[in-house]
Parts: sequence; C-alpha cells; structure tokens
Amino acid sequence: MKKKVGFAAAIALFAVALLSTRYYMVDLPVWHFFGGGQGPDPATLHLHGEFVESNLGAAEAPAGSLTVRMIAQQFNFVPQCIVVPAGVPVTFRITSADAVHKLSFLGTEYGLKAVPGAVTEATFTFAKPGEFKIPCHEFCGAGHYAMRGHLEVVPRDQFASLRPGERRTCEQR
Ligand code: CUA
Repeated sequence: MKKKVGFAAAIALFAVALLSTRYYMVDLPVWHFFGGGQGPDPATLHLHGEFVESNLGAAEAPAGSLTVRMIAQQFNFVPQCIVVPAGVPVTFRITSADAVHKLSFLGTEYGLKAVPGAVTEATFTFAKPGEFKIPCHEFCGAGHYAMRGHLEVVPRDQFASLRPGERRTCEQR
C-alpha cells in the first residue's frame, strides 16, 4: 500500500513539474483567469513595446538613474551579460517570453522572478566590484540547469569611461 501511494505521489509530482513548463497550455489561461494580461504579451515582446531588442540592457536616464531591461526565455537571458557600476542603485525590469524563470545573483541575496505577461521590477545596489553568475533558480524546463547570465560590477569611474554600447551590455556580438 505504502509503495502505491509513493508511486502516485511521484506521478503527481512529475505531472506538476511537466505542466509548470507548458506555458501556453497552463500558465497563460491561469494567469488570465486571475486578471492578468495587462503586461507585455510574451509572444510579441521583440516586435513592440519596452522589451524590443534595441531597448534591452542598461539604459541611463538623464537624471542619472540606471535601468536594466532583460528578457528571460528558455534557456537564456537577453542580454546574457550586463555591466553596472558599484555603489549605485540599479533598477531591473524583467519579463519572460515563456515559462516562469528566476534571476538570482549568486553570492548576493538578490533575486528577481521573470513572469510571462508581467514586468517585475526591483532596485538593487551592488556595493563592491565583482563578477556574479546569474543562474536561473526556477525550474523552467529541460535546459534549466544550463540557464545562466552574467553580471559585472565595475568601479563607478570605470563604468563612466565605457562607450555607450559597452554600457548597455557586455554581451559579445
Ligand atoms: Cu529559466 Cu530555470
């Protein structure tokens, strides 16, 4: 009897894990049911709005504040590499093109969920220069364990001396 219950539980767990990665079949209808859908449409992120490719990465406002826009998708982040100055508040705005992902800055307590159809915003200040891996900390499918981005925190004056393109992203093109 005990074995049967364990087996059923294993099947149920597997089903939940499987369904949680089937965004269009499961997450989207559930999301709409709970009144979502005000945010960016995951299917057209690259076509118009805040998350078109030319608008991704770090952007400086005239007042001096820094905003980083990113897309999480199976199985990478766009852009993969971002560079920010140390000791400066950085506002992250992130959305997902498919399943739910979670950005976590390894070695810090900072993390940020990326949810399809919504924009998650948070402001972090990285005190010291350093390099941080950004692994995905939410199971999002077969490539989950290989999904990671990269954050470079550089001294303020070094950031200021970068060319605009290099400030936007440190991704190799
Ligand atoms: Cu994305 Cu796990």
